[in-house]
This record gives sequence, C-alpha cells and structure tokens, in this order.
Amino acid sequence: MIKLGVNIDHIATIRQARKEGFPSLIEAAAVCEKAGADGITIHLREDRRHIQDSDVYGLRKSIKTKLNLEMSASEEIVKIAIDVKPDFVCMVPEKRQELTTEGGLDVKASKERLANIVARLKKAGIVVSMFIDADTNQVLSCSEIEADAVELHTGKYAKFFKENGADSVEFKAEMERISKTSNEVVKKGLLLNAGHGLDYTNAGQICKIPCMNEFNIGFSIIAKAVFTGLETAVRDMKELINED
Ligand code: PXP
Repeated sequence: MIKLGVNIDHIATIRQARKEGFPSLIEAAAVCEKAGADGITIHLREDRRHIQDSDVYGLRKSIKTKLNLEMSASEEIVKIAIDVKPDFVCMVPEKRQELTTEGGLDVKASKERLANIVARLKKAGIVVSMFIDADTNQVLSCSEIEADAVELHTGKYAKFFKENGADSVEFKAEMERISKTSNEVVKKGLLLNAGHGLDYTNAGQICKIPCMNEFNIGFSIIAKAVFTGLETAVRDMKELINED
C-alpha cells in the first residue's frame, strides 16, 4: 500500500489571505486523517507565506499520524525542527520569488553542509528525507550523507503528462528516469517517496513503480476539496494511488 501524506499548506494560504484565524489547520489535519491520510505535510517557509511557527507546534501536538516538515537548510528552520521533532523532515531548496518548490535539492553540490544538518536532525530522532530530481548521482550523494529517504520531484513528470500526454517521448523518458532512479534509491536502502504536481489524472502511472513508500500531495487535493469537501478529496486520492 502506498502511503499518502497530505500537504495542507494551501489551507494556511486561505487563512493567511484574511488573517482571521480560520480555516483551522488542526481541524483540516483531523479530517485528512479520518479520510485515510497516513501523514500531514507542511512547509515552514523562511518567508512564512502560509504555515506559521505556531502551526508547526500545534500540529505536532494534535495529529495522530505522522508529521512531515518540509524545510530549507536555513539555520533558523533547522533549530525549529530540532525543537519540534516532527516524525519526518524533507529538505527542500527554497527561493523567495517562487510560487512553489522549483526543482530538487542539489545534494551533491552541498554535501558537507547538508551532512552536518542531516546528522543533527537524526540525532533528534527525526527521519530525514531529501527532495531531489530523478538523478542517480543525487541518490548517491543522499546515501553518502546518510539520509534515510529521498522524495523524487515529480514536477517534470506532471508537466509532460499534462502538456505532451502519457504517450509522448518526453513523458516516457521522464518515467524511465524516475524508474531508474527509484531502483537506485531502493538499492541504496533508502525509503522511496515522491511528490509535486501529482493529481487525480496523473498519479495512476507513477504508483506502478515498485517499492514506492509514500506520495506527498497538496495542491490538487485542496483544489478538489473546494467542490467535494476535504474528506472526499483525500479518500479519493488514497484509493486512486492504491488501485490495482
Ligand atoms: N513534496 C514537496 C517536497 C513539496 O515541496 C511540495 C510542494 O509544497 C509537494 C510535495 C506537494 O506538491 P503539490 O502541492 O504540487 O502536490
């Protein structure tokens, strides 16, 4: 069974639009869990555009499944993570101007710095994942710095699916890259996760990759929830990624 981590950042985006204190993230997380989510994912960005520090502490206390904190390698955020002790941390690159996380982390280029952060997070009892592009060299670096897991960036996969179609050369080549990288992840003994841009139309293909542990999905679920309610949106995705 492939696990589903529901990213609830965009519920915080709605709240921050008016700063009225609702909708409640605690309530949203409980609904996701009731609908079958295996974990709740949040990204505490340096600019605090959606998730706030109080959300991280509040959700840590309230949720019954697993808390996955997406974060950059900034010292301020590392300290918060060590204090909060989420179940998982996913290290991501972060740029101020981006709409969402663009591209994977270049673990190979910052090995020493990241190794130090990974060691500190692991010492606090946190399982550490690295958000990387489908690239076997990056997997090797993740293994060398002793990360526990990788999350493969599926942004290109989603883009080619939408723009070129599932039968296109571009989509098939990306699928092949993901497949090859996934084999490498499993061979190195790392947990295999994936996320970014996964939705109700494209998730059916990537879930056929063997040994997939978890998908982290946000935008498409929250967007569907506007029409169906959050519980149905989460339940439908959980079913979809586990269809035979
Ligand atoms: N995984 C990571 C590491 C991310 O940064 C994001 C976006 O916040 C997601 C998964 C979820 O992406 P989406 O909102 O496109 O489903």
